[in-house]
Amino acid sequence: MDKKVSIIGAGAVGASVAQVLAIKGIADINIFDIVEGVAEGKALDIQEGAPHFGFDCKLKGFCTKDEAMYKNLEGSDVIVVTAGLARRPGMSRDDLLVKNISIMKNIGENIKKYSPRSIIVTVTNPADIMAYAIEKSSGISHERIMGLGGSLDSSRFRTFLAEALDVSVEDVNAFVIGGHGDDMVPFIRYSNVSGIPISDLLSADKINAIIKRTRFGGGEILDYYKNGTAFYAPSISISVMVESIINDKKRVIPCAAYLTDEHAKHYGINNMFIGVPIKIGKNGVEKIYDLNFNDDELKEWNKGVESVKSNCKIADDYFSKNQ
Ligand code: 2OP
Repeated sequence: MDKKVSIIGAGAVGASVAQVLAIKGIADINIFDIVEGVAEGKALDIQEGAPHFGFDCKLKGFCTKDEAMYKNLEGSDVIVVTAGLARRPGMSRDDLLVKNISIMKNIGENIKKYSPRSIIVTVTNPADIMAYAIEKSSGISHERIMGLGGSLDSSRFRTFLAEALDVSVEDVNAFVIGGHGDDMVPFIRYSNVSGIPISDLLSADKINAIIKRTRFGGGEILDYYKNGTAFYAPSISISVMVESIINDKKRVIPCAAYLTDEHAKHYGINNMFIGVPIKIGKNGVEKIYDLNFNDDELKEWNKGVESVKSNCKIADDYFSKNQ
């Protein structure tokens, strides 16, 4: 195939992304993992299912215990970064911060060395900050980096709304912005069922309960699994981002994107990654949509921004001490 997607981290999320992308057959897939045998095994395992679904893409696995293996990143159109420590029960996404920033630094440096023209999708939590860390360490321009967050959170929000209304998920348009954390912002005013505002269809109490469930959607799955985080919905949510890049589909999906001065008058912040609606195409983040908040929305947004901001400060401190 003439397109190539690399996935760094062959845990449950990385391997599931590989499987979904393979089934879609849109690119060859290279999988990387530091644990010996894991990436190689998962690549082969997925490949062996190809005849049934007829996908002709090639999957290969590489162990990055030998860092030179990162040379196989060369020529990647998209690199999905899922490597890092996983969240455990009782642990917030932010607890993972410093350890995962150091992992991103190493990955970012290898991306810079072997595949500096790729578009990067960060998944490792907290995803907004990992996008920031990859930008700092890879030298890749911020338009070519995006983080998972809204794509997954909006999928959960739409699922819960569809369930409450007993309608097809296809007709539920709704999105979640802000950080991919407990202060994410499910955006009610623009949420509708085939154009009918959800506030006309559900009581405020019901909407608030759905918002709460969406915010803790990752935690709900973690409570079930105990020793692992969600990976089915995340991998599908990542795959639509990757597919929009590879096929230049120009999907509009909320993801963590870098806000420049140009967006500061709407979002009140700049020079950081946070979840906003973006257009995703072959050039990465092709447009950031500026939203005009009302007073209540602005309050919610500002609350969500604070934790991302303070995490960026931790990342800045880390990079100033670890050049
Ligand atoms: C989630 O929300 C793992 O952060 C991811 O499920």
